[in-house]
Amino acid sequence: MARAPATFLGSPVLLLFLLAAVASGARLPVRPGAAGRAQPRGASAAAVFALGNFWRSEAAFGCLPGVLRTSVGYAGGSKASPEYRNLADHAECVKVEYDPRLIQYKQLLDVFWASHDPREVFGQGPDVGNQYRSIIFTNGTLEARLAALTKEREQAKDRTSVITTEIHPVGAFYPAEPEHQKFELKRKPFLVQLIGNLPEEELMSSTLAAKLNAFAAELCPPKTQKRISAKIDEIAKKGWPILRDI
Ligand SMILES: *[C@@H]1O[C@H](CO)[C@@H](O)[C@H](O)[C@H]1NC(C)=O
Repeated sequence: MARAPATFLGSPVLLLFLLAAVASGARLPVRPGAAGRAQPRGASAAAVFALGNFWRSEAAFGCLPGVLRTSVGYAGGSKASPEYRNLADHAECVKVEYDPRLIQYKQLLDVFWASHDPREVFGQGPDVGNQYRSIIFTNGTLEARLAALTKEREQAKDRTSVITTEIHPVGAFYPAEPEHQKFELKRKPFLVQLIGNLPEEELMSSTLAAKLNAFAAELCPPKTQKRISAKIDEIAKKGWPILRDI
């Protein structure tokens, strides 16, 4: 009888080798189609926001139930092919793909407002520049109305300073270079290995990677952070270091 892959992978020798490899920071071979496969493309909608540094913006949305995929890119400007070192009049953005049956645009707006300081002018914290401005990109009149309403609500909280957030109809979104996608996750190579060293395209389309990217930045709710930590510890103890779901 042929040996099942599970038995082979469960061999103590291989296990020790893998753990040693992970511990030493060596890169395990890429396992295409392994953990973190993208959700089937069913009902999905997309929203684009600019709220400062896009590494953090992506992490701010990645842990929300109903968010299917996140990616970072450039939008809001006129340059045809923006790049990280030459994005001209574009802003750093996050594109959030979500299942509208599980999370509503209005809830994404709430996360948008809560995840940055829209009263800051020309940047967010240490990130200074026009590329860090605050923008809501809307698709259709309903989204435009919700964006305007929530902006007014934020403004009403304090009239001594101005909410700088711009609201624009959604236009071209230019995906950023691969090294900027899931940046917070990539800062923790152990986590990248844990989900099987997915190739860049899979990392971009993986719901699990979006979640772990948020976890890596500690932007999941505290209870979720704890739950994921516990699960990771458990998997690390058991050996075969592949996380399939959280
Ligand atoms: C805007 O929404 C419609 C459906 O509501 C969708 O088909 C279209 O792709 C969206 N446009 C963008 C740029 O997201």
